[in-house]
Amino acid sequence: MKIAVLPGDGIGPEIVAEAIKILEVLRAEGISLELDVAPVGGAAVDQTGDPLPPSTLTLCEQADAVLFGAIGGPRYDTLPREQRPERGLLRLRKAMDLFANLRPAQVFPELVAASTLRPEVVSGLDILIVRELTGDIYFGEPRGIRTNGAGEREGFNTMVYSESEIRRVAHWGFQAAMRRQRRLCSVDKMNVLECTQLWRDVVTEIAPEYPEVTLSHMLVDNAAMQLVRHPRQFDVIVTGNLFGDILSDEASMLTGSIGMLPSASLNARGQGLYEPIHGSAPDIAGQGKANPLAQILSVAMMFRYSLHRSDLAERIEEAVRSVLAQGIRTADIAQAGEGIVSTGQMGDAVATALRAH
Ligand code: NAD
Ligand code: IPM
Ligand code: MN
Repeated sequence: MKIAVLPGDGIGPEIVAEAIKILEVLRAEGISLELDVAPVGGAAVDQTGDPLPPSTLTLCEQADAVLFGAIGGPRYDTLPREQRPERGLLRLRKAMDLFANLRPAQVFPELVAASTLRPEVVSGLDILIVRELTGDIYFGEPRGIRTNGAGEREGFNTMVYSESEIRRVAHWGFQAAMRRQRRLCSVDKMNVLECTQLWRDVVTEIAPEYPEVTLSHMLVDNAAMQLVRHPRQFDVIVTGNLFGDILSDEASMLTGSIGMLPSASLNARGQGLYEPIHGSAPDIAGQGKANPLAQILSVAMMFRYSLHRSDLAERIEEAVRSVLAQGIRTADIAQAGEGIVSTGQMGDAVATALRAH
């Protein structure tokens, strides 16, 4: 199994190093894994001037899966847009057609108290956000900053979805719901935006193909509120690129920390890119404070969705669970008075637990 490893910037390399410890445990058991590390984001800009060098893209396209850390940082925020780290990630998603982004938000029982919400609101929570990842206002043309007729600058972007783009990710939402509680909530802003009126129409049109799934629709502002009011009402949420970005960061706090949420970004050929939903966290980079569990849980998703080893995915998730049960906490998930471990100590603890199971 060939894995392209793209550490990126900020805490990216720190948490990817912990994920590699997990892969090394499995390799020591005889599982054949070839890891090829390549630059992306700001690290690639520094080396080549391009946040997604052609050699990195080729490596990803030829791999069975891509393990991605995080990209970005204040140092790069003033570069021309095409040279910014974020463009590297967006181009990679687009080039590989990774349109289905799965972002599961599950509350581990041991972390119920780590959430900023009351225990009775979050305990037992298990939701899956299916975020469309290659369309929407992220990629729509025209876009830019121009001078208008009154001589002032105006910024503009285009929110656009074709029906085929909506249909393929909606099928993902329905199929995921079929494997879970069979409830799908499609989130849009159809009361204002034509683009999302089409979203609602297309999702509604394909619903008859999934008679066992209960489909509901919700406006995104209400969805943001409902996620903190009563999050367990949701099973699977399917939504567009921008709304999914925002709602998944919100959902992560239900689980205790954004450092807990993994993701899988999949194309129709079964290729996948696996990354935490959070960013490069420049405020804590280089300090050994980052929680590597989102990255490690992304490795579990990689075994499940691209490498067809659900057994290994479950072992990794079980190892994470057992570490949390032992009370091992990075700063972001620790309660007052609880001891805190570093990024590296957390990775070591999961590796040890994995060896034992
Ligand atoms: P962020 O997700 O990097 O950080 C938000 C907050 O969460 C920060 O306080 C950070 O310290 C904390 N945090 C994030 N991950 C954590 C972890 N694993 N453990 C503990 N705490 C963690 O978002 P931001 O600060 O808005 O963005 C920083 C940079 O990251 C920007 O350049 C942005 O473009 C980029 N970004 C990249 C990705 C990606 O690579 N997929 C995702 C989001 C943001
Ligand atoms: C994410 C990030 C990215 C996004 C940025 C870095 C381009 O926020 O993966 O959630 O907006 O998709
Ligand atoms: Mn995001």
